[in-house]
Amino acid sequence: MFGDTLVDITTTVAGIKLKNPTMLASGIMDEDAGSMQRIIDCDAGAIVTKSVGLTTRQGYPNPTVIELDHGILNAMGLPNPGIEHYGLELSLLKNSKTPIIGSIYGANTKEFIELGKKMEDYGSSALELNLSCPHAKGYGLEIGCDLPLVREITSSVKDNVSLPVFVKLSPNVTNIVEIATAAEDGNADAIVAINTVKGMKIDVELGKPILSNKVGGYSGKAIKPIGIRCVYELAKNLHIPIIGVGGITTGEDAIEYLMAGACAVQIGSGIYYRGLDIFKKVCGEIEQWMKVHEYKKLTELIGVAQV
Ligand SMILES: Cc1cc2nc3c(=O)[nH]c(=O)nc-3n(C[C@H](O)[C@H](O)[C@H](O)COP(=O)(O)O)c2cc1C
Repeated sequence: MFGDTLVDITTTVAGIKLKNPTMLASGIMDEDAGSMQRIIDCDAGAIVTKSVGLTTRQGYPNPTVIELDHGILNAMGLPNPGIEHYGLELSLLKNSKTPIIGSIYGANTKEFIELGKKMEDYGSSALELNLSCPHAKGYGLEIGCDLPLVREITSSVKDNVSLPVFVKLSPNVTNIVEIATAAEDGNADAIVAINTVKGMKIDVELGKPILSNKVGGYSGKAIKPIGIRCVYELAKNLHIPIIGVGGITTGEDAIEYLMAGACAVQIGSGIYYRGLDIFKKVCGEIEQWMKVHEYKKLTELIGVAQV
C-alpha cells in the first residue's frame, strides 16, 4: 500500500483466493520444500511445483541452460525426483497458507490420474497439467497438440480428483484456442499460457547447437508479446479463467497480462533478472501503478484491453 490510498490486489482463480496475482511458474526454484519456502517468504501469491512424473528422471546432460540477450534457452528434460519423493517435500509445506499448485506430466491418461491423486493426497490446492513441454519426448507437445487426448486427460483427471485443474498450454501450435477449448470441454477450471517457445542457439566457433538436446524452450523478456497474444485470444474465446505467464519482470508486464484477460500471472525467468524479491517488487509496482491510475481493485484491470 502507498500513502493513504488503499488498493486491493487480491484475485481469485477457480475459487482459490490469492493475496496477490503473482505465482511462481513451474520449473524455477521449486524442486524442494526449502526453495519453495524461500519464494513463499518473498510473498508470491501461490507456488507451482516443478513438473513431477511417476518416477525419478535425470533430465538431459549439460549444457541445459543458456542465458541469451533477451531471454533464457533451456532444455532441462524435466529432471525431477518422482512423485513418491515429492510427497516428502510437500509434507514440509503442509502448514503453508500460500496455495501450492502441483504440476504434473505423464505419458498417458492413466499416469496423469495417478499423479493427480497423489498431489491431492499431499495437500495441493490445485493441479497444473503440463501438456506443453517443448523438449521432453513423449511427455509434452505430442500430447498437448492432440485435441481428443487433451480433452480426455483433462476430464479423466477431473473425474478422479476433487481439486481445481489447470491446463498449461504451449505457444508452439497453430491454434492455441482450439487446444484450450478441448481442455475447457474436458471441464478444466483454468488455462495457463504460455510454456516456453521452441528455440535453438548455435555456437558459431564449433558450428553446432549448444544445448545437449539441440532444441530448447525460450523464456524471459523476449517472449512476452507471444504470451500476451495467446492470453488475449484465449480470454476472448473461452469461459474459464486464464493465468498468464511468459516474460514478466515488472508490475507493468503483469498489468499487461491482466488487461489482456488474465486473472493472475506466473513468474519464472524474471527471478534471474530481479532476484527472489521479484514477487514483492512486482506487487509493489502494480499497487503504485493502480494508485497513479486510480484503480482500487486489481480485478477491475482484468480484460480492460479486450476490444
Ligand atoms: C529452467 C526452466 C525450467 C522449466 N521447467 C518447467 C516445468 O518443469 N514445467 C512447466 O510446466 N514449465 C516449465 N518451465 C516453463 C515456465 O514455467 C514458464 O512457462 C516459461 O518459462 C515462461 O515464463 P517466464 O518467461 O516467466 O520464465 C520452465 C522454464 C525454465 C526457464
